Amino acid sequence: MEKRYMEQSWREQMRIRLDVNNMFAENIGKEHGFLKEDIDSLEKRVEEAHENILKNRPGFMELPFSQSDIVKEIIELAEKRKGKYDNFVVLGIGGSALGNIAMQTALNDPYYNYNEKARNGYPRLFVPDNVDPVRFKSLLNILDLKRTVFNVISKSGGTAETMSQYLIVRKAVAEEVGEDNLKDHFIITTSQDSGYLIEIARREAFKTFYIPNNVGGRFSVLTPVGLVSAAFCGIDIEGLLAGAAYMAGICETAELWKNPAYLNAGLMYLAYEEGKRLSVMMPYVHGLKDLADWYRQLWAESLGKELDRDGNIVNVGPTPIKALGATDQHSQVQLYMEGAYDKVITFLEVEDYGVEMEIPEFYEDIQGVSYLGGHTLNELIITEKRATELALSMRGRLNETIILPELNEFTLGQLFYLLELQTAMIGELFNIDAFNQPGVELGKHYTYGVLGREGYQEKREEYLNRPEKSKDLII
Ligand code: PA5
Repeated sequence: MEKRYMEQSWREQMRIRLDVNNMFAENIGKEHGFLKEDIDSLEKRVEEAHENILKNRPGFMELPFSQSDIVKEIIELAEKRKGKYDNFVVLGIGGSALGNIAMQTALNDPYYNYNEKARNGYPRLFVPDNVDPVRFKSLLNILDLKRTVFNVISKSGGTAETMSQYLIVRKAVAEEVGEDNLKDHFIITTSQDSGYLIEIARREAFKTFYIPNNVGGRFSVLTPVGLVSAAFCGIDIEGLLAGAAYMAGICETAELWKNPAYLNAGLMYLAYEEGKRLSVMMPYVHGLKDLADWYRQLWAESLGKELDRDGNIVNVGPTPIKALGATDQHSQVQLYMEGAYDKVITFLEVEDYGVEMEIPEFYEDIQGVSYLGGHTLNELIITEKRATELALSMRGRLNETIILPELNEFTLGQLFYLLELQTAMIGELFNIDAFNQPGVELGKHYTYGVLGREGYQEKREEYLNRPEKSKDLII
């Protein structure tokens, strides 16, 4: 592990911070802004919720501390196989894909797949995360299968999209390299003791990594689900876990005002109760664009629930929306500025982009363009963020910022952990189970029934007997 991850001064310098000034009345006005007392009123509930979280200790909380052997194994395998493959393909969906994409976008070169120099001997990464036939066929067309490894990821080991992709690929790879050489082209990541994928992995003698049973898909980015593809593409996975461990330390306290995950959960909860039911995540860092996508799933599947823990129908859950600065200033911000008062905007900002790009000076006589010369793109993007933040605040719009000193493994690991714990806390405040997903399951079960999977006959009947669609309503 890199020494700096353990150096206190470096860690403090890299600590991500939560700026909630613009959630409060003194900055955005009394009509929509909170008072400190509003937050204080949650203190007792948060303390109880904290106890509950510790009692149940969701699996994701252990990950930064419990994986040293597995991390070593992953790093060794990735290094051993470096140079063997041109392409690394993740076959997985939802929680078995979004974290992989988020890490790749955040930590590797933006044009990694096209830039051999930036790849430095590591393979290109593809994560189709869908079963659209056009896209999947096209992907297979561009891959040299002899130089490709597929990481099949499914916790349940039976998800229709992932297993279909696997079956298609298995046939294609066998045709290309022969039945006896399949082993070099598949790595399986699944549950150790349930599902069909583990059975297949054993039968085929594929290299296998396991997903801990107590870690759900959307909380699994820091298990082998995310770590294997990251390590194979040159990402320092020890740094990710060191960052997560650091944030776990910061968030150990039950004190609302000292724990960023709890404070943010509290604010989001209060905002929801006040009718701000849309939660926009808007990074002003292109590298965090897919983190917002990962977060969208985390928030939606964890918090969108029909029943509370006592069985009452609550139909609760803030709707997460992803946006991107500065791009969406030219698409969404008009709505955020003047539309209904139903949103909280969470900006993500990075203090040091790692590169600086100067804007050259031209056309001195055309002032409307020449004023840009001598500034940098860095100044432009951060000024746009600050300007949008101020304009929203002036109009009484709730907004806050998560500040990353830099975008690197250590800060991203912190961010993952912070957002996961925040999700667990707001789930407690809503009194719902943030770790199940009954709504997703129902759709899956209809699909299984229709396609003829054993055990889903009843769902098949329900589907086949669904009411006819009126032709009058399809125009
Ligand atoms: O968060 C979740 O549980 C889901 O989004 C799953 O990750 C997704 O449905 C894929 O499931 P599996 O990994 O079992 O194939």
